[in-house]
Order: sequence, then C-alpha cells, then structure tokens
Amino acid sequence: MGTATALAEKKSKRTTAKGVTSKALASKSSAGKAASAKAAKPKTVRLPGHIYDYPKYYDLIFGSDCQAELDFLQDCFACFADRKVKKLFEPACGTGRLMVRFAKLGYQISGNDLNEKAIDFCNRRLEKYGFPTSAFVADMCNFQLKKPVDAAFNTINSFRHLEKPEMAKDHMRVMADAVAPGGLYVLGLHLTPSTEPQVVEETWTAARGNLKIRSKMWLVDRTPAQRLETYRMKYEVTKPAGREVLEDQFNFLTYNVKQVTDLIASEPRWEIASVFDFAYDIQAPIVLNDQTEDVVFVLRRVGS
Ligand SMILES: C[S@@+](CC[C@H](N)C(=O)[O-])C[C@H]1O[C@@H](n2cnc3c(N)ncnc32)[C@H](O)[C@@H]1O
Repeated sequence: MGTATALAEKKSKRTTAKGVTSKALASKSSAGKAASAKAAKPKTVRLPGHIYDYPKYYDLIFGSDCQAELDFLQDCFACFADRKVKKLFEPACGTGRLMVRFAKLGYQISGNDLNEKAIDFCNRRLEKYGFPTSAFVADMCNFQLKKPVDAAFNTINSFRHLEKPEMAKDHMRVMADAVAPGGLYVLGLHLTPSTEPQVVEETWTAARGNLKIRSKMWLVDRTPAQRLETYRMKYEVTKPAGREVLEDQFNFLTYNVKQVTDLIASEPRWEIASVFDFAYDIQAPIVLNDQTEDVVFVLRRVGS
C-alpha cells in the first residue's frame, strides 16, 4: 500500500470521480426505497483478516486509474532500456491491476505476491482475458525467475513493506538476478524528507454497481530507531445486504535520500538511469534533495 501522500497523489482524481458516481447511484436507488430503509437498518459485519485478503475491494479502490503509470513505464522502457522490452515482471503485484493491462498491450507479464488471495484474483483475471496465469505466491526478497525479464516495476510503495534494511538489500539482489543486462527496474516509493512533512491521513472512495467502498489510511506511530512507520487502514463497504468494516495495521520501512541511494549502491548491478516523481512525467526528471518525498527510480541493470 502506498503511503498516504504517495497514494493520495495517485488516487485523488479517482476519489473525486468515483465519489460523484457513488453519490449519483445512491440517490437513484434510495428514491424508491426510502420507506424500507427506514424500516430495516442494514447490519454491519466486521471483516476478519488483512486488507490484502480482499482483492476485489483493493482492486475497486486502486485498480481503475492506471493509465498514467502505464504510459510512464512504457516511456521508461523506450528511453532508458538498452534492450527491447517485451517481458515484464512485477514483484508484489497484488491484484495485478497493471499486469493485466500490460498483457492487453501485448507484453509477456508475470508477477509475485505474498498474498494467496491477491494472486488467485490476479490469475483468474488474466485467465478471463485469455492470458497465462503467470502470477505466483512468493516473497519479493526471496524468489528466482526461470529466465530474466527485460523490465520490472514496483510503483506504489509496496517495496516499503519490507520492514528491515537487510530484506530490502535481498530484494535489490534478487531483482538484479531477475532482470537481464540492459533491462530496467522502475521503483516508486515515498521518502521521509528532513523536515516534518507529511500528510498523515487520506481517504478514497469508489463504487461499482451497488458496491461502494470508503477507504481511510492514517499514520499511528513512528519508531525512528527502527525506521518504521505504522499505519492503520480501514475499509467501509456498503452493499445492498449491509455494511462491512475492516481495520488493519501494517508497517513501512522509512527511507531518506541517503538511505535509499545507499541501498541502490549496495547492489553494483544497478545504476540510476534517471529519477522522477509521482507525477509520472517522462519530460520532468527530478533532482533528489533532502526535501524529496515521492520518488520513482529508473534503475538500469548493468554488468553481465
Ligand atoms: C499496495 S499493494 C500493491 C499491489 C500492486 N503492486 C499494485 O500496484 O497495485 C502491496 C502488495 O505488496 C504485497 N507484499 C507485501 N510484502 C510482500 C513481500 N515480502 N513479498 C511479496 N509481496 C509482498 C502485499 O501482499 C500487497 O499485495
């Protein structure tokens, strides 16, 4: 999951658009049902488990507005790869919102994720559109591909789920094994600037048919000694049958500019080809400084 700021920037347009849709839907359906709504208040069910255990809900909130990322990633392939990019890999792919779109564009795509439910959702959707079920359950810091790919991407902070610096190092190493020389790894994450920034609470809404979801994420704790931030996240789901609520908590490892550039330098098979922000504008590379917050590294695989 992205940090509040990172995902907010990516998703805020969607929030507005979906918010309008969901209001329109609500008023239409409520018109004829006012009487029965008065009679029976829908019951609320507390959902067990983790936010990623509900891929349908995750995908509804975060999976519909991917065009800027798709365009940007393809621009990166064209501008920075020293090989033709046909085969792609996404570590921590989740529901595969980007994978399925790349498959539709003609790329060969695979991905992994720790969450079995997300992988199942991803593979069922790939299958539905006639593509190989190429997502598999694995830890992004401990896996091996049969053959290296031309490019990989990891765009919205999933990388920060690796809670220890050593895990992040392992990830950079296995990704260097997974990407062929001349290929790319596009890695997007939110950095901690030297001055206290930061948006600490964000909400998103989305609706499809008569399913409506409101999602909220907020910072609850910082443990600077371990470089950890703890976030809580809540889904409030409204369906004709009633309401569902899920609350979950997770940690993100924090990075400042030095920590992330040291990490990249720890794996000599990566060089920084360019750096962007979450505006995903290939014409607008950024220069890192201690105020930088959202960052997208375009890493090129060097060596043999
Ligand atoms: C914010 S979601 C992003 C999913 C997808 N990349 C996207 O852009 O929509 C983060 C994903 O990271 C996965 N994840 C967390 N830790 C992981 C690990 N160590 N290895 C693989 N996946 C992991 C979670 O299960 C979740 O699906």
